[in-house]
Amino acid sequence: MKLLILLFLSFNFSLAYSSENPRVQAHDEAIKAVHDLHFVKDGRGMTLTPDAVNMFAFMAKLFGLSKPRDGFIEDKSGTKVGLFTKRWGLVEHDKEIKGFFNVPYKKMNVGAMGCAVCHSGKAAGQYIIGLGNKNIDVGKLAKDVEKASKLWKKMTVLKRKSKDYKRIEKDSMAFAKRLGNEKVTNLTQGLVPISMIMSWFYRAVAKTEMPDTTPRGAVKVPHFWGYGKKRFIGQFTDGFGNGTHAGWGLAVELAGTQTAENVRKMIPKIEHAENILADILPPKYPFKVNQVMANRGKKLFDNTCFKCHGTYERDAAGLPIYKEPKHIKIKVVKTDRDRLRGLTPEFLSLVERNPVPDYIQHNNIEPGYFAPRLEGVWARFPYLHNGSIPNMMALLTHPLERPKFWDLQRAGERDRFSENLLGLTLPKEGSRNYKKLEREAKSGARDVYSTSREGQSAKGHWFKFSDKLSNQDKKDLIEYLKTI
Ligand code: HEC
Ligand code: HEC
Repeated sequence: MKLLILLFLSFNFSLAYSSENPRVQAHDEAIKAVHDLHFVKDGRGMTLTPDAVNMFAFMAKLFGLSKPRDGFIEDKSGTKVGLFTKRWGLVEHDKEIKGFFNVPYKKMNVGAMGCAVCHSGKAAGQYIIGLGNKNIDVGKLAKDVEKASKLWKKMTVLKRKSKDYKRIEKDSMAFAKRLGNEKVTNLTQGLVPISMIMSWFYRAVAKTEMPDTTPRGAVKVPHFWGYGKKRFIGQFTDGFGNGTHAGWGLAVELAGTQTAENVRKMIPKIEHAENILADILPPKYPFKVNQVMANRGKKLFDNTCFKCHGTYERDAAGLPIYKEPKHIKIKVVKTDRDRLRGLTPEFLSLVERNPVPDYIQHNNIEPGYFAPRLEGVWARFPYLHNGSIPNMMALLTHPLERPKFWDLQRAGERDRFSENLLGLTLPKEGSRNYKKLEREAKSGARDVYSTSREGQSAKGHWFKFSDKLSNQDKKDLIEYLKTI
């Protein structure tokens, strides 16, 4: 009997997604659409510059990228520009930088930032659309764009520029300036400051710039699978956004250089985009799973973790049945609070008076975080909303003993993935590499995560049962988590 159950389980989990299954077909279409998605319209949106092709080539030289890799943008002389992965954390796959587009508008090539810049990424060497980019550094990107734009403007001062060119140039530079503001932007790769979205409400409603005292509220980019169920009880990591209408998808655009009127014209496209996110399936764990350990782990999970994270069933084809996540009060989970500090009465009142109130609405929910559903969790390291825990073993370790710094370089590549720890590899304590990282963490290196930076603490998520888990229990749990 036991053997039969084992066979059944391993059959279920190793089943390759069949391309004849309608859910798999819908998934394939959805990820293609997300890969190509951006909302730049009439030269407005997440625009970087009106002269993208030349400006990127210029930036490559300016920032010393003398040996560009294949696959980015070709400038007029045919030079290919790449190598922005290290500096800005852009995802490169199949010799292509993901999520940047040249959008033709009135004889210009407007540089546009699409969803895949942040909402696609790598884990264990696999490129996964709908996974958050583990390295994206919008703060650094914005600062560089601002610097380069100023020089570029000077260099092209003699060139005749149309009214539209000047407008896009001005808007894009203002966007970059806001995003690069050191007081409110992210301090580390892989984290996006929520202040980026908040700033729009200050400008659109209060007609002022956002105060520099606004918390950064930096979060890792969330995964998309399961969002179809999640959005109706709350969007984002804290459940603040009301997702009944495809509202906050707009906010990303508004945070750029978009106008409310223009955004209204795009509502059907935005609604469609949010709807197709429901079709995305989680990535399967690509390596071997020890099924005996996983079965033990499932039992442990169903006794402890399930209270917050739920249970995981599959349909007849072995595909996950999505459910709503549970919202947990901050006083229970006790993880970093910085992300929640921005939800002041002042901010709530700005949201209530926003110019697209029929779409952008907020929930009245007690401060806390979602206990996210754990499908495809193997790929979602570093863990927690602020990416403060490098791997699953560290999450199952007492908060005071968790790693305090680690390397984010090439976080999604195969050689950075530990199957045993489930997540990022770590240097050996006391080794040369360890000491080097420690120095870099202290000096503020953006590609080294340090839990002592503002909003980046690795506290909380420690419960009564946590102390009782033996080392073997933890290994068993990890094995189970690979299967969901
Ligand atoms: C600069 C990086 C960035 C870009 C570009 C971006 N997003 Fe996001 N997105 C985020 C971050 C970060 C969050 C999480 C915010 C939070 O939880 O506070 C998020 C959250 C979301 C959510 C809510 C997910 C959830 O679980 O509640 C949706 C939907 C979404 N984004 C859609 C989009 C779409 C569609 C685009 C393209 C038009 C896009 N995003 C572009 C960074 C980005
Ligand atoms: C009391 C409720 C509760 C219990 C019990 C609980 N968790 Fe969580 N878990 C949460 C909350 C809330 C978050 C999000 C916290 C945050 O992001 O700051 C979370 C986050 C996580 C994450 C991070 C997911 C990601 O994408 O970053 C993982 C993994 C996780 N939990 C695994 C577990 C496991 C395994 C157990 C059982 C050993 C467990 N949790 C028990 C509430 C709980």
